[in-house]
Formats: sequence, structure tokens, C-alpha cells
Amino acid sequence: MHNAEAFIRGLPKAELHMHIEGAIEPELLLKLARRNAISLPWTSPAEIRAAYQFTDLRSFLVLFYEGLKVLRLEEDFYEVTSAYLRRAQSEGVRHAEMFIGPQGFLEQGVRLDDLMNGVLRAMRDGEVAGITSKLLISTHRHRTEAAALDMLEQIDPWLEHITGIGMGGPELGNPPTKFAAYFKACRAKGLRLSIHSGEEGPASYIRESIEVLGVDRIDHGNACMDDPSLVDELRSRAIPLTICPVSNLMTHVVATLEQHSLKAMMDAGLLVTVNSDDPAFFSSYIHDNFMRIKAALNLSVDDIITLARNSFIASYLSEREIAEALAQIDDYVAADRLN
Ligand code: HPA
Ligand code: ZN
Repeated sequence: MHNAEAFIRGLPKAELHMHIEGAIEPELLLKLARRNAISLPWTSPAEIRAAYQFTDLRSFLVLFYEGLKVLRLEEDFYEVTSAYLRRAQSEGVRHAEMFIGPQGFLEQGVRLDDLMNGVLRAMRDGEVAGITSKLLISTHRHRTEAAALDMLEQIDPWLEHITGIGMGGPELGNPPTKFAAYFKACRAKGLRLSIHSGEEGPASYIRESIEVLGVDRIDHGNACMDDPSLVDELRSRAIPLTICPVSNLMTHVVATLEQHSLKAMMDAGLLVTVNSDDPAFFSSYIHDNFMRIKAALNLSVDDIITLARNSFIASYLSEREIAEALAQIDDYVAADRLN
């Protein structure tokens, strides 16, 4: 291997935890604010980047919920989604599973057709360009369960284009059990289930998520390491955790990347993946996440290959598609070893 960084950039991978609202680059934020006559407290990309300093999850969410207000029309949703897919593809992402949370848009008067049509058109164009994707509808856990159920009804006409659901927002004080009926209703519609759990919240929230809600995947899940019997359960059931190292650093879930438990999770046999979460807010797409966590935890290139394999195994792709993606990784690694 001549250059580990180039090898890692080109390594086929899937991204399973990113929010479309979190992918609005400062330049696009300013452009859309101008186009849609929305006033922002900033006038330059540099000012925006300087403002993206967070003290915790809540301080990040304030700006995340403000930023999404610039997306109003179909073309806006198209632009942000296609910009993300292009960038991800340039970093080796062959498949992306993307969250978008309609509640924040609907209350601004955005039409659900515009949101869905823009995102779905970008996904179709991405597929033509060589990156597949799936859409996950995210709800806000600080809102009521009735509001989540109402949104589920509203997205019903698009159900064939939606693979699953997730849930974000302030975690502490909003335990998974608050949404037991909502998750049950989503499951009844055939949707795959994930939830942000154990990011700022405790291990018991992760346990509730798998035992009460019956989710397929945990987003973040850092706190599981506090409960060895939970780690056993996650490992034996091969429940994936979508880890977001730089996000965790930026929202102070961890004080330093050196203290991140990603390697300990791998050593414990957990099915973990690396993801960007909100790449524009954290100035970090998937490649930067890989490179920084590799440096901080002394991960080997074989560890990185394991994480890339995990990303497909943990995806909502079919068994056949997963097998094909793993074969592509094998071919990529074999070709590199010939050099
Ligand atoms: N946690 C909670 N809510 C969010 C996140 C997150 O990482 N990203 C966007 N909304
Ligand atoms: Zn997230």
C-alpha cells in the first residue's frame, strides 16, 4: 500500500447516519437564504463556520433547527441532497442512508411534496451517477408522540420511497418509551426502525430502544459501554451502532477523540460503523471522520476495512446487495495489494 489515505478514501463504504439538514454548507446556506428572502445573523461562510462551536447537543440543535429554515422549495431540497451525495461519492461512499425530519419544515409552511420530490430526484440522479441511497424519515423526540403519529400519516403517500424511520433531537428527558406506539405503528407499515440513543442519554435508553421499541439499529449508542450486559445483548443480536466520531467531539459527548470508545466497541465484537452525522456543521465528511479517528485511536488499515465492511452489513440493503458490496471491497483490497 503506497498511500493509506488514498486507499481509505477510495475504499467502498456506506454511510448510514447523516441528516440532510446537517449537510447545508455555509455557502449554500447563504445562497438559499438570499433566494428565499430569509434573514440570517451571518453574512459570510467564515462567520458561519466560526459560529459552529458547540458546548453540548442542545447548543448544536439550536443552530441545526435554525439552519433548516432556508430550505423551502423543491429545488432547495434537490440542491442540498445532491451536493451531499456528490461529496460522499468522492470519498468512496457507494451507498448512503439519509435522514430528513419533515416536522421542522412542515411547521415553516414547506409543502411535503416539495421536500419529497426534491430529495427523491437527487437520489435518482445520484443513482445514475453511481451512488445508491435510501431515505429515512426522522422525527423530533422533544415533540409529542401524537405529532409523530400525525407525521406518519402525512408521509403515507410516499411510503414506497421511504425505507425506514429514525428519531433525533434532545435526548435527555425524552426517553424512547415516550414513542412506543409510534414505533409500533411504523413497524406495522413495514418501515425499518432506528433511533438516536445513548448519545447524551444513558445506557438504559439503548436498552429500552431495543427491548421496548424493537429497533433494527441504534444511532450513536456510545453509552452502551457503561453496561456490560447490554454490550452482550447488542453483540449477540448483531444490532448495529452508527458511530459519529467527529460529531461526538463537536457536541462534547467525548472530550477528545483519543477517549472515544470506537476501538473498544470493535474489540467487544460490536457491529459499529463510522458516519458524519451533520457534515456541514461539523466541517467533517466521512473521510475526515475515518482519518481523524484512525489517528486518535491508532486504528490499523485492517480496522478501517472492517469498518467499511460493517457499513454494508449494517445497511438496509438486501442480502444480495450486501454480498456484492463486500465482494467489491475484497476486489479493491486485492487490487491494492498487487500494487
Ligand atoms: N443527535 C440528535 N439530534 C440530531 C442529531 C444528533 O446527532 N443530528 C441531527 N439531529
Ligand atoms: Zn444524528
